[in-house]
Amino acid sequence: MLKKKDKYVVAVAGATGAVGQEMISVLEERNFPVGKLRLFASERSEGKMLEFCGKQIEVEILGEKVFKGIDIALFSAGAERSKHFAPFAAKDGCIVIDNSSAWRMDPEIPLVVPEVNPNDLKWHKGIIANPNCSTIQMVVVLKPIHDAAKIKRVVVTTFQAVSGTGKKAMDELLQQTSDILNFKEIHKNVYPHQIAFNCLPHIDKFMDGGYTKEEIKMVNETKKIMGDDSIKVTATTVRVPVFRGHSESLNIETVKKLSANDVRALLSAAPGIIVYDAPEKNIYPLPIDCAGKDDVYVGRIREDDTIENGINMWIAADNLRKGAALNAVQIAEVLIEQT
Ligand SMILES: NC(=O)c1ccc[n+]([C@@H]2O[C@H](COP(=O)([O-])OP(=O)(O)OC[C@H]3O[C@@H](n4cnc5c(N)ncnc54)[C@H](OP(=O)(O)O)[C@@H]3O)[C@@H](O)[C@H]2O)c1
Repeated sequence: MLKKKDKYVVAVAGATGAVGQEMISVLEERNFPVGKLRLFASERSEGKMLEFCGKQIEVEILGEKVFKGIDIALFSAGAERSKHFAPFAAKDGCIVIDNSSAWRMDPEIPLVVPEVNPNDLKWHKGIIANPNCSTIQMVVVLKPIHDAAKIKRVVVTTFQAVSGTGKKAMDELLQQTSDILNFKEIHKNVYPHQIAFNCLPHIDKFMDGGYTKEEIKMVNETKKIMGDDSIKVTATTVRVPVFRGHSESLNIETVKKLSANDVRALLSAAPGIIVYDAPEKNIYPLPIDCAGKDDVYVGRIREDDTIENGINMWIAADNLRKGAALNAVQIAEVLIEQT
């Protein structure tokens, strides 16, 4: 359990990665009560210096014995590292907030989005899971609708940025774009097909039944976070040549009828959401506009007249912030509030 302190010793594991770097920025921007920051990555990054609050901090190698004296560790070094190192951290009294998929569906581990299920933090045993990026932005929007009208079914299609795969994927999109524009041959290392000027209906590996693991994560994580197994979710996840910001098309079927205006009013009053919906003025959420922002942007809200109680909408959010680093830091903030 976290003890109340004025300042905390905080660690970022995976500090040199796309999410880790964002975690360092979010901790600084939100004035998180950091007494000391420790940064960990692989041996490839040992000795590298990263900046936090105007100071240079040396990156250390992540290990089993590094966690003594650390209060909170934000993990974003991949699922294998989380599975291996998080139990060592928890044993040494360090609370782990883990961004990988390693612990998300473990019934002993809370899976938390602070706007949706902050009370699940009360039963953690040292490890807390941060959900998948595309799930986080969707449940922030589903929660107020479910509370008001009970959701029966969600059909979601995602348009996910390459930063969701990490730094190497961002480099690949940049390199392929430049090579194509310069009439050079392109190279594919991260994705099985060209990502520049293309869309890939394939995120994570294919599972039995033809769905991808990313699609199955959206189904299972939504039920766990919302605490309701009866919500039906079906997903198609698509990688698009966008650097930052995931977008999603949502079709939501409810038990109780809600008009488009009811939904606008509900979402406008909900935490973490900005309704950005004036199509007559070309105003709707765009990934380039929500990059670097904290909220989930919602627009194109309209009734689906092919079913009795249905709503369509388009949402966008920064996958590295609300989809990862920001949500993890918000979890740590709620933990402190609850101590
Ligand atoms: N990107 C997103 O939008 C997003 C959203 C939610 C969750 N996540 C999850 O967050 C994690 C990191 O994602 P990312 O996008 O930041 O990936 P990334 O850019 O590839 O960064 C990976 C980080 O993990 C470190 N690492 C790799 N192997 C390691 C080892 N053996 N020991 C210690 N550190 C090691 C890397 O250190 P080196 O630099 O030393 O190699 C780097 O700091 C993944 O589990 C991912 O699924 C990502």
